[in-house]
Amino acid sequence: MGQPAIRSPSFSCLWCGRSWTVRGPDDLEGWARLCPDCLGKAGDNEFLRFRLRAALEARGAAANPSPPTVTSGPTDPDLIAYYDARAPEYDDWYLRRGRYEHGPIHDTAWNAELDAAGRWLDSLPLRGRVVELAAGTGWWSPLLASKASELSMYDAAEAPLSRARERLVAHGLRAHLHVRDAWAPPEGDPADALFAGFWLSHVERARTADFLQVAGRWLAPGGRIVLIDSLPDPRSGAVDHPAPSADRSVRRLADGREFTITKVYRTPDEIAAAMNAAGFGDVAVTTTGRFFVLATAILAERQAGRHSRATSSPNSLRGTGTA
Ligand SMILES: C[S@@+](CC[C@H](N)C(=O)[O-])C[C@H]1O[C@@H](n2cnc3c(N)ncnc32)[C@H](O)[C@@H]1O
Repeated sequence: MGQPAIRSPSFSCLWCGRSWTVRGPDDLEGWARLCPDCLGKAGDNEFLRFRLRAALEARGAAANPSPPTVTSGPTDPDLIAYYDARAPEYDDWYLRRGRYEHGPIHDTAWNAELDAAGRWLDSLPLRGRVVELAAGTGWWSPLLASKASELSMYDAAEAPLSRARERLVAHGLRAHLHVRDAWAPPEGDPADALFAGFWLSHVERARTADFLQVAGRWLAPGGRIVLIDSLPDPRSGAVDHPAPSADRSVRRLADGREFTITKVYRTPDEIAAAMNAAGFGDVAVTTTGRFFVLATAILAERQAGRHSRATSSPNSLRGTGTA
């Protein structure tokens, strides 16, 4: 995964779809994959502003390459751009609305399994400081916030996190919310639990161990990792999404914009083996049937504190405060 480099001098604008050809390798349009008109409107629009910021960073990084580090290399700007743009319609997936509706038989099964996943999460002994990585629109956050004494929620995209904040406020709950990369080193006190929903499936296969190592670094000895993720059921996504292939999925938004993202469907056995190999114990991985895989494990004492923690937030994109 790299920066949003100019893959070809011609592209379709990610916002309006217009074809555009860059004049040279330094053109910001190429880095942002936006036409000049849309780039010019970046001040008025969150998605365009995000693309502009990412383009400036990527162009700067290309001009002054720094040695790759395990914390920043795997970040995929296209994945972040996709979820930033998808934020207003993200919950349609959970709620089986619009393009995510698959008829009463499949949708009833989906709803039952979603309930089962929620009950499973609720049954876990989560307490103390809980960290949620790639929190998105915060579907699971009210449950986490109601169990934790302190919840810290992070996501690399701003738009979904704004919705998460609204959700918490609507529930009368509080959390610390920060725009922050899931690959960044941990910050703050060691956590008692770390939750990530539908995030591991966006981690490339070759990076599984790296991510579990980052997760372990957040946790106090005996801390718990909790993951909920996708099983590869054809009725899980939108009706107009092509079948995934080779760990990549083409995703469309309601307005027709298209993104190709990493989506890796790991089996329960694969997840359990990776957790064991990463030094977690009490590994328990199960499924709800068709749609969701549920995984939890405890960080073995000898693994905890193996790595230094960040005293500041070098990869923090921008603090967004507390809800
Ligand atoms: C499938 S969504 C899951 C959202 C939420 N956890 C849930 O269970 O509904 C994946 C999330 O990962 C976020 N994301 C993508 N790349 C990221 C990165 N490098 N660091 C942190 N979050 C990232 C996206 O913005 C998106 O909100």
